[in-house]
Parts: sequence; structure tokens; C-alpha cells
Amino acid sequence: MSVQLGMPQPREEAGPALPSVPAARPADAPAGLADRYGRRATDMRLSLTDKCNLRCTYCMPAEGLEWLAKQAVMTAEEIVRIVRIGVEQLGVRELRLTGGEPLVRHDLVDIISALRSNHPDLPISMTTNAVGLAKKAAPLKAAGLTRINVSLDSLHEETFTKLTRRPFLDQVLAGVDAAWAAGLGPVKLNAVLMRGINDAESPALLGWALDRGYELRFIEQMPLDADHGWTRRNMITAAEIREILSAEYVLSADPRERDGAPAERFEVRRRVPGLDAGGAPSAHGPVLGTVGIIASVTEPFCSDCRRTRITAEGKIMSCLFSREEYDLLGLLRSGADDDALARRWQDAMWIKPKAHGMDHVGLDAPDFVQPDRSMSAIGG
Ligand code: GTP
Ligand code: 5AD
Ligand code: SF4
Repeated sequence: MSVQLGMPQPREEAGPALPSVPAARPADAPAGLADRYGRRATDMRLSLTDKCNLRCTYCMPAEGLEWLAKQAVMTAEEIVRIVRIGVEQLGVRELRLTGGEPLVRHDLVDIISALRSNHPDLPISMTTNAVGLAKKAAPLKAAGLTRINVSLDSLHEETFTKLTRRPFLDQVLAGVDAAWAAGLGPVKLNAVLMRGINDAESPALLGWALDRGYELRFIEQMPLDADHGWTRRNMITAAEIREILSAEYVLSADPRERDGAPAERFEVRRRVPGLDAGGAPSAHGPVLGTVGIIASVTEPFCSDCRRTRITAEGKIMSCLFSREEYDLLGLLRSGADDDALARRWQDAMWIKPKAHGMDHVGLDAPDFVQPDRSMSAIGG
């Protein structure tokens, strides 16, 4: 169903985690993008496009998805206006550009320049698959991009191609290095681990990232694949990731504040064989860098979530797993003023679900009733 202008409308499909009755935002609600559970969103994740040039099995079907019509997607001007309202009226403190794949947007550099000229101090980062990044890293930096995260699940040509269904590993590696060279650091790498495909490669991937000064994060696969092939049993859990890494590395808590981030960070030392497993981590030598583990399913971090999402067609999603979306772009195109747009955004965030509820799915559950949208259509 299409979302109506006026009051936020729930989407029709059935599923868990619907707030029973969308509670109207009270007049005395806190300022900004507050919700009913005392959280406040300050981290804005904005999708620039639903299109992508890879077909990662945990995200997209082999044949791709039906892309949005060009006129349904936010224009550069609309993006700039929505971000300005978020920053000036609603307390947004950092912006993450996502997709699909943001690099496929031809006006990406112009969008970043315009955002930067409006917001000289706003951290603006981008999560990308890095295909084509080698050529664009320097212009993106010059336009005002702050830093970059890259999806990289394998360093083996064959495994990379199997996972992404495209033979672009060399381009991605060149893109990562170019981002670093252009000053888009710290460069963070995201690896979704898949049982029997790239899980055994994880210590080698970590060694490679540590050698180059990149911050690798291992991600539990979430049920956001368009093929609906996710099962709890096949997902590599955070506990398993720590176990696999412990054969070669000693992990200890990173003393820095987590600040609502999805990744729990650990300092990494190389394990000295034969040394008492219960001993102090420092006995194993110097810290080589850090690794992050994003345990969305088994160790959820919803209670400290600070994220608000805008999809490429200008819908507000209060949570990755929202079954409800609220149309901001339609309201904007109908001529609404900034205050009306800000109120719509606040109403949508007020009913953000308390949590995604995935942690209660049993090991033998064949599937999870997942949102209609795949990760690429939400914006990661
Ligand atoms: P930085 O560390 O600040 O760069 O941010 P980040 O880790 O949020 O950025 P990135 O876009 O690289 O996201 C990494 C992964 O975190 C995504 O692929 C998701 O798997 C996960 N993630 C991001 N936001 C959310 C969220 O709101 N909920 C859940 N469950 N997972 C999220
Ligand atoms: N589960 C977890 N992470 C995912 N990503 C894409 N699909 C999934 C999924 N089903 C991650 C990618 C990328 C980021 C945008 O989202 O690794 O880095
Ligand atoms: Fe892969 Fe990201 Fe594209 Fe999805 S959006 S297919 S995760 S590169």
C-alpha cells in the first residue's frame, strides 16, 4: 500500500514487533528525535539509492530487485533539505550515507559538497562496497566526506565471487587502499560471516586488516536477505566468532566508550602458543589493533540505539526491522514547510520499537518473519 499524507500510516503486512497502537507523540515529549523508551536518535542514516552493482547472497537475489523509478528517489536538493532539517531542528549529530550502493549515484560528489557547505562540522561518512571507489576516493574527500566503511567478506577471489556473485575483488581492494591514501580513514571493513563459506577465513582476514591498519568488524548475518534464506542455525554467532579468532588471537575489551555503536570493540594481540589461557592479555605482547563484533541477533544493542533512517524514496524508518514506514518525501513534495516535516519525522520516531525481537528466535526456527525490505532497500 502507498503511505498516505497526513497521519503516519502503518504498512499492511503481518509480522511481529508492531507497536500495538501507534501512540501519538505527546505535546511534552522531549525535543529532537525521541522515542517512548527514553532513547534519542542523533545518528542519521540516509540511503542515496536502492541500486547496487553486487548481488551479495545475504542481501540480494541473483537477478537483482525491481529498482525504484528515478522520480521516486530523492533528488540532491531534497536530500540536502532533509539533512538540514535533521541537523538544524532535530539534533542530528552525524550522517551516514548508505545504499544500495551510494557510489552508483552520479551526483554523489555534488551531494556531499552541498551537505558539507551547509554543515562544516558534521561528520559525514559512507558505507560502500568500494566497486569503483579507487577513482572516486580523492574527489569524495575533496568534496568533504569524512570517512568510509567498506564491505569485504573475503580475500579469496573464488569466495568473494561466490558471495557477491560478481568478480570484483581486485576493484574492492584497490578501493580500500585508495580510501586510505585519500585520507578517508579510519577505514572500517565489514565482513558478514557465512557458515562453510568464509567463516574459516576470519583469522586470516583479521591478520590482513591489522597489517594495514584497517578496523575489521565481523557481523552476524541478519534476516534481511531478499531470498529469505536466513536461518538461525546457519548464522555464525558472536560467541563462535570469538572462539574461532581465539585460536590465533587474544581479545580484550577496548576501553573506549561504545556510544551506542553496533560494534563491540576488542583490542587484539597475537596469541603466544602454550601461554596460560587465563593469564593477562598483555602477556601475549603488544596490541596490534582492534576488531569489532556486530552481534545484532545474539547480543542486541537496541536499548541504546541512536539511529534514524531515511530510505532512498524518502521514507522514515525508525528501526532496521520496522514494519512501518512514514513518508517524508511525499509530504515535502506536497509543499509542506520545515516545521511540518520535522513533526512528521518526530512522530515516526516516537513509536520506534523497543527492540527487534530476533534474539528470541529458536535455533530450529526455519525462518524469521522478516521485513519486506532487504538490506539494500533499507540502507544498511
Ligand atoms: P561506524 O562504526 O560508526 O562506522 O558505524 P556502523 O558500524 O554503524 O556502520 P556500518 O554502516 O558499517 O554498519 C555496520 C553494520 O552494523 C551494518 O551492516 C549492520 O549489520 C549493523 N547495523 C548498523 N545499524 C544497525 C542497526 O540500527 N541495527 C542493527 N541491528 N544493526 C545495525
Ligand atoms: N546481515 C548483516 N549485515 C548485512 N549487510 C548487508 N546485508 C546484511 C545482513 N543480511 C551489511 C553489509 C554492509 C552493510 C551495509 O550491511 O556487510 O557492510
Ligand atoms: Fe552487497 Fe551491500 Fe549491495 Fe547488499 S547493498 S548486495 S550488502 S554490496
